[in-house]
Amino acid sequence: MTLKEVYPPNTDSRFDSYKAEHAKSISNPSEYWGQKALEELEWFSGWDTVMQGSFLHGDIAWFVNGKLNTCYQCVDRHIEKRGGDVAILWEGDEPGDVKEVTYKELLRRVCQCANAMKSQGVKKGDTVTVYLPMMVEVAVVMLACARIGAVHSVIFAGFSAEAIAERIAAANSKWFFTSDEGKRGGKTIPLKNISDNAMAKDVAKGIVEKCFVYKRTGGKTGWTEGRDVWMDELSAVQRPYCPCEIMDSEDPLFILYTSGSTGRPKGVLHTTGGYTLWSHVTAKNSFDLKEGDKFACVADAGWITGHTYIVYGPLSNGVTTFMFESTPMYPDVGRYWDMVQRHKFTQFYTAPTAIRSLMRFGDDEPNRYDLSSLRVLGTVGEPINPEAWRWYYEVIGKEKCSVVDTYFQTETAGHVIGNLPGVTPMKPGSCTLPHFGVETVVLDAQTGKEIEGNGVDGVLAIKQPWPGITRTCLGDHERYLNVYMKPYPGYYFPGDGVTRDKDGFIWITGRVDDVLNVSGHRIGTAEVESALVAHPAVAQAAAIGFPHDIKGQGICCYTTLTNGYEESEDLIKELRNAVRTSIGPFATPDMIIPSSSLPMTRSGKIMRRILRKIASGETDTIGDITTLGDPSIVQILIDKVEGVM
Ligand code: PRX
Repeated sequence: MTLKEVYPPNTDSRFDSYKAEHAKSISNPSEYWGQKALEELEWFSGWDTVMQGSFLHGDIAWFVNGKLNTCYQCVDRHIEKRGGDVAILWEGDEPGDVKEVTYKELLRRVCQCANAMKSQGVKKGDTVTVYLPMMVEVAVVMLACARIGAVHSVIFAGFSAEAIAERIAAANSKWFFTSDEGKRGGKTIPLKNISDNAMAKDVAKGIVEKCFVYKRTGGKTGWTEGRDVWMDELSAVQRPYCPCEIMDSEDPLFILYTSGSTGRPKGVLHTTGGYTLWSHVTAKNSFDLKEGDKFACVADAGWITGHTYIVYGPLSNGVTTFMFESTPMYPDVGRYWDMVQRHKFTQFYTAPTAIRSLMRFGDDEPNRYDLSSLRVLGTVGEPINPEAWRWYYEVIGKEKCSVVDTYFQTETAGHVIGNLPGVTPMKPGSCTLPHFGVETVVLDAQTGKEIEGNGVDGVLAIKQPWPGITRTCLGDHERYLNVYMKPYPGYYFPGDGVTRDKDGFIWITGRVDDVLNVSGHRIGTAEVESALVAHPAVAQAAAIGFPHDIKGQGICCYTTLTNGYEESEDLIKELRNAVRTSIGPFATPDMIIPSSSLPMTRSGKIMRRILRKIASGETDTIGDITTLGDPSIVQILIDKVEGVM
């Protein structure tokens, strides 16, 4: 079968209904979302105004003065009808190590965790940092925070001690959750020890008052009396009911750190009403969630995909959500498909990088398993290349499942662009059309003017607020305005390039700023560079993304060395390690290229465009280099990169 350009749905009528509903949702958002919020969520009391504020002023608020609790939406409201249904299905690192937690059981565990936190002094509005592996407890802690009005700040368990310390300090977080160790791909990760190192770093010293520790492996850990508490013991003695805090719609629900093009990661803040509605509605629409579904998102809870599509979205919809501790390769490359067969997932949601790495092993692996339970396959994190799309659609979905390409960001809370299963025609590689309430436009990057018509390129922008838009960056509203609202006044600017094709379908062409996307992980070039220049050997560094077959993008770091340092294998290893320790293993550079200088303009500006071309092997289109201070460096770098490729 050859890859078609368009895969239309079975009937056009549903696509027409989508178009009509979308038009209605953007012509009168207050009416549309007011009605949805009433239909889809349970409010303790209603709002005065559905939406106020604008992108221009960065003062957006939804469901003003409305009262609700996110944990209540995700747990309590299901108890009467489906308390005995499985809320969380967990599979550990070893295949078959499975736990099921019903909604009733989840309520008890969340309440005990909430009461345990309260007993130690955690209060509404406090920030609770969560550095946990993929255990059921990560969802329990998030929901318990939501229940008592504490603001969680979950840190992906692949981050280093330095990155954790920075986040503890930025949020001034007195409360910290971790586990003794984590298990992943047959390896043990010493999470408590990494946490101890983080809490001992100068920036974070003395901030954490209580460190709540869950047991995952029973392995040995360091222990600080008075600060550290075994959470299983503390929870076990708590009352298994804890009333929900009545939260204002605009009360903070969580912060999540993400990378930008400059400076340190920013704490993106989401609020209660808008986020809860957005996660609920997008999970329901994108994945066609129905009662009894077993929904599997195999991301990590530490990223926005995990927050919205492992925890809040599926649970708010009352389906079974899957939590996966391991990797697609452990113990073998059939792991995902074995789990689909055993658990009978109805939806499966992963990233193009995982699909690409699995398709390398051929069709026989997935063909050994019964994948017939699947209805919808989802992809997220980067544009999916048509070959990977096709493999997903044909080999995994047997041409019967919809493949939904979901575009979103930490800042958007949930999907803002993506096809709806069985509704929107699918085009491999295109995330298709905007969600309800999202008005996308293509802007001219230079003038900021809207480009009308189809068959056009530019930068992506969103024209009016939707409930899930982030409200601020923690402690730095100015940065929020500068990054998202000021580049194109009156619009939200996500930072991506875009093509709108002849049919009006959207194709994301990648970041237009200095943000890298490595295996779907967002990494700021500035973070990598500052990790490198912190090493005494490095005088100058430029981190550049280049196309990578599996990871989407790889990282190439050009460096000049300080006097007295010589280029060597050991030094390169050390520099690689410097990035791992500063950020985490997922940010490890693929190439480090030391040299005597970098291509710079005569005024001293590093020519990243040239470095990008060299790292990508596009040396015949480097263009004019006569403006460089020293043009001869270009050939030296080309030779060096070719030498390590
Ligand atoms: O560049 C876009 C890319 O990932 C960025 C957001 O990264 P992050 O906040 O870490 O969230 C990742 C998970 C949503 C975007 O600015 N991106 C995400 N999804 C897609 C995508 N690019 C193309 N197609 C997608 N479906």
